[in-house]
Amino acid sequence: PLRIAILASGRGSNFAALLAAHERGELPVEFVLVASDKADAPVLQLAQGAGVPTMVLDPRDYADRRTYDFALFDRIAASKPDLLVLAGFMRIIDGDALKPWAGRMINIHPSLLPKYRGLHTHRRALKAGDLEHGASVHYVTAELDGGPVIAQATLTIETGDDEATLATRLLPLEHQLLPAVVALIAAGRLTLGEQGIAFDGEPLRKPLRW
Ligand code: GAR
Repeated sequence: PLRIAILASGRGSNFAALLAAHERGELPVEFVLVASDKADAPVLQLAQGAGVPTMVLDPRDYADRRTYDFALFDRIAASKPDLLVLAGFMRIIDGDALKPWAGRMINIHPSLLPKYRGLHTHRRALKAGDLEHGASVHYVTAELDGGPVIAQATLTIETGDDEATLATRLLPLEHQLLPAVVALIAAGRLTLGEQGIAFDGEPLRKPLRW
């Protein structure tokens, strides 16, 4: 099975969704590591409860971002993962540290990329008066939230929606989207090459819809 390492900073509901899909027999993968930058991240307890090895690396113990990121990916590499999944990992990663993982690292982001890279995506979608909002899973490149988008899930913004309602309604869609993409990767149906994403051997012209 595909060996997966998770990077996460917090609650871990997206990791929980991956675990649940795995328990239902829908994900032929092995979770080899959950790595976090936060020692008190709830995602670590989730991993321990599921028997998945965990690792915490505190950025405050390193001189700068670059040193931290190289140390982090060195440690992750020791678990020999095939795929790195950023599931609520709330740090910007050094572009050179990412390079060895090109095409083997994905991220879930709570917006319809290329809209709203970075933080406060729900607030920004509301402020812009958008009618639609959503989440994206993309390959990670040196450009923050800027890598090729694999798949998106969308919802309609309703009158009276605020940041909290949007986040609450989006989360269950994220929990479908991320396991679905990981399943496609595990099945060998998605690859990232020089020409961009290929899906079943054909160039992917627009993100898959979930
Ligand atoms: C999710 O909504 C995810 O899309 C977002 O953080 C949340 C993590 O929740 N990710 C980002 O904002 C990445 N910049 P979780 O810890 O419960 O999976």
